[in-house]
Amino acid sequence: KKVVLAYSGGLDTSIILKWLQTEYGCEVVTFTADLGQGEELEPARAKAELLGIKPENIHIEDIREEFVRDFVFPMFRANALYEGLYLLGTSIARPLISKRLVEIAAACGADAVAHGATGKGNDQVRFELACYALNPDIKVIAPWREWDLTSRTRLLEFAEKNQIPVAKDKRGEAPFSVDANLLHTSSEGKVLEDPAVAAPDYVYQRTVAPEDAPNTPEFIEVGFERGDAVSINGEAMSPATILTKLNELGGKHGIGRLDFVENRFIGMKSRGIYETPGGTVLLEAHRGIEQITLDSGAGHLKDSLMPRYAELIYNGFWFSPEREMLQAAIDKSQEHVTGTVRLKLYKGAATTVGRWSDHSLYSEAHVTFEDDAGAYDQTDAAGFIQLNALRLKLLGARDRRLKD
Ligand code: ARG
Ligand code: SIN
Repeated sequence: KKVVLAYSGGLDTSIILKWLQTEYGCEVVTFTADLGQGEELEPARAKAELLGIKPENIHIEDIREEFVRDFVFPMFRANALYEGLYLLGTSIARPLISKRLVEIAAACGADAVAHGATGKGNDQVRFELACYALNPDIKVIAPWREWDLTSRTRLLEFAEKNQIPVAKDKRGEAPFSVDANLLHTSSEGKVLEDPAVAAPDYVYQRTVAPEDAPNTPEFIEVGFERGDAVSINGEAMSPATILTKLNELGGKHGIGRLDFVENRFIGMKSRGIYETPGGTVLLEAHRGIEQITLDSGAGHLKDSLMPRYAELIYNGFWFSPEREMLQAAIDKSQEHVTGTVRLKLYKGAATTVGRWSDHSLYSEAHVTFEDDAGAYDQTDAAGFIQLNALRLKLLGARDRRLKD
């Protein structure tokens, strides 16, 4: 029996690794991905080797470009926000990790995959729905739902008994749980569990506090082609490079912090602290370019689909026909979303201050307050208003009649 484990190299997934070997007696293959979480990957290799994984069973991959190009950017075409605020940084990474787990399992002849998500959260659902969608025969092992290592003390005992090295700062209670990638850092649990109490400053890892951000604004220009960012300040860059650069800029100006209580798919509410510096700038920029390039009918329909689309991603249905249907509609809407947005970054906010495009629908000739040169006939509006008012007048007349 062989299992492919989503392995971070951290204490929890190292314990899972050993547990799979001892409890399931199976050969473990590890998959460690660079999704831009800002951690070295080679220590994960060394640790896997130390725990007895054969070198050919250790898979380490930089999948940042695929992550941004095929997952983050398609999602940003929709301006997706869950429950009005959350940019879905964790949710959008899970389908890609699952895809690689399933592919590696097929390549090395494993019949199972394993992940380190708990039985209380969204991530277990996302990993497993994606894995089953991609391989209906795959077996998924979720140790957190099965084992009896239900306290920190028991976990540490298991680590000690199995010679798993435990870093000094991991010996005590972990202060909170963190998930990070190129799009965001999320922190949940422990000191953050009481939603009435403000998060301590040390929770924030990749943004400065807006009040500590530079006192002078910075202006940048983001170029778009068909709804995707392609350049910053005129310089063409790859998707992952653009997001990396926007993260630097956003982080420096204190942009993209969110303290949020959300509804998990499994039913409970949870409080999280999110930092999405580059994503917050990108959302503003994308909305900026859509303002002049999207038709109102297409734009309003797209906006009405967005909450549903965001919920599908949050709930783990990336690989589903309904998400793909919505994606096709959203992608179609982006055909002319090409042009440039000028943004001001200042003290926690990214603000659009200019936008221009060869594909623009904006017509100064029509909108100008100066006298028009025949582009628009103001007397047309009188009939337009009369017909739109017709039913409102009939309603008003009835109400007046019934009152008398
Ligand atoms: N609540 C967020 C989501 O469901 C993040 C979950 C993972 N974060 C964590 N700190 N463990 O997308
Ligand atoms: C977890 O339980 O693994 C993290 C939280 C979540 O998935 O919602």
